[in-house]
Amino acid sequence: MKRIFNKMISNLTTRIIAFAALLPLVALNAEAASPNTMLAMYQDQSGTQGSASRGEKFFFAKRAHSNGETVSCTTCHTENPKATGKTRANKLIEPIAPVANKERFTDPAKIEKWFKRNCKDVLERACTEQEKADFIAFMLSVK
Ligand code: HEC
Repeated sequence: MKRIFNKMISNLTTRIIAFAALLPLVALNAEAASPNTMLAMYQDQSGTQGSASRGEKFFFAKRAHSNGETVSCTTCHTENPKATGKTRANKLIEPIAPVANKERFTDPAKIEKWFKRNCKDVLERACTEQEKADFIAFMLSVK
């Protein structure tokens, strides 16, 4: 009985070790996206090159919202992409430029989620794939 138990434990240990050894591989895969691969993906989808200067105009463009407010991406992300931003509820937002925040544009699901939410908030429509490529091209140009 004891021997069987010992064998079970050692099997379990082997499994845990194997799992632990595989973890970094899984993590590496999940982080395979980078600002450059995301830019390439949106360029592919839009069939155009991302333009940093178009992205810059897009980022600063002030838009008259139907609720009477004037909004832009800078409303929350500030006029300096390297600075910490703030939501309307005063929650801090980490810098949006990859040079100041290396987590930016590395998680496709997160990027899509926030493009969707923020484009609706500012433009009252979805952003086009070209606007997304331009936005990332601009953020990559911030040094
Ligand atoms: C009402 C406030 C607000 C406005 C306006 C806003 N954002 Fe954001 N944005 C946020 C918040 C909050 C997050 C998520 C928190 C975080 O990632 O630190 C975020 C995150 C993002 C991300 C995720 C990036 C990543 O890889 O983590 C993208 C892309 C983004 N915003 C694009 C835009 C664009 C484009 C505009 C203008 C059209 C814009 N945002 C305007 C609040 C805002």
